[in-house]
Amino acid sequence: MDNIDMKQIQWFPGHMAKTRRLIAANLKLVDAVVEIVDSRSPLSSRNPEMDQMTKGKPRLVLLNKSDLADEKATQMWINYFRNSGAEAVAVDCKSGKGLKNVLPAIKNKVLRELMEKREKNGMAGAAVRLMIVGIPNVGKSSLINRLAGSKRAKVEDRPGVTRTKQWVKLDNNTELLDMPGVLWPKFEDQDIAVRLAFTGAISDDILDIETLAMKLLMFLAENYPKSLEERYKVVPEEDDTGLSLLEKVGKKRGMMISGGEINTERAAITVVDEFRSGKLGRITLEFPPKKEQ
Ligand code: G4P
Repeated sequence: MDNIDMKQIQWFPGHMAKTRRLIAANLKLVDAVVEIVDSRSPLSSRNPEMDQMTKGKPRLVLLNKSDLADEKATQMWINYFRNSGAEAVAVDCKSGKGLKNVLPAIKNKVLRELMEKREKNGMAGAAVRLMIVGIPNVGKSSLINRLAGSKRAKVEDRPGVTRTKQWVKLDNNTELLDMPGVLWPKFEDQDIAVRLAFTGAISDDILDIETLAMKLLMFLAENYPKSLEERYKVVPEEDDTGLSLLEKVGKKRGMMISGGEINTERAAITVVDEFRSGKLGRITLEFPPKKEQ
């Protein structure tokens, strides 16, 4: 199976440095940091420098897209983050599920001490300021739109598109700092890059679609074999390879090209699309280390 050229995906180090500086400069303006990650790959979808960058600030991890992730695994991740000292809440910014828990988690848990201090000093009415951070496509705009209750125009996280930082006011005396800049994930190893490619968080050009689908099928065969059985009537066997699984899916779906060959490209597109849209069920791509669940 092809390997990824890691050099290809070490994108825009200059942009990252700029974002790092912006976060550092704005940190003093906020009471807490809300970091959004993808529930299907909570570690791969965050920038590992975030802990260092936001050191000393209370932090809430929002496990977004929880509608697409395995519920049991999401609970393990919540425990994992709590054990590592950050409060964590699962949300689905598409339907709004879990969002009612976000501000109470911030005020009653993440910022409990500050809120008590303010109460004592007669400052209970002071605004709570939050910085929202996360890699592109993880759901930052969706979250802000949901919390702010209005459809705000999305500005794309594209190099060259200038965004200025903006404060978004919510009803209940809370202000969100929507950070400009691009906070790329860090591709420390191939496995991280592959998980990001599965969810569509990084460009599909990095890996050809058939390689991507074959890797995904192998992961599913090992971890979620029922999803392949239910969706494609393919029961993974011991000696299956990514290619044999892809061919089986193509065959079951009648994706043939002339001469009786299987159209593996079409099958690959189908598998990847159906995974991303949740049609293969709720699937988590990485799990916390056992002792930290
Ligand atoms: P960003 O600002 O961090 O870049 O992310 P954004 O909110 O634009 O969300 C990226 C994509 O993820 C959007 O899909 C959005 O609808 C989807 N999304 C965000 N939160 C959730 C969630 O909790 N569950 C699911 N299933 N999807 C979520 P899109 O295809 O780019 O646009 P569209 O489908 O909204 O048209």
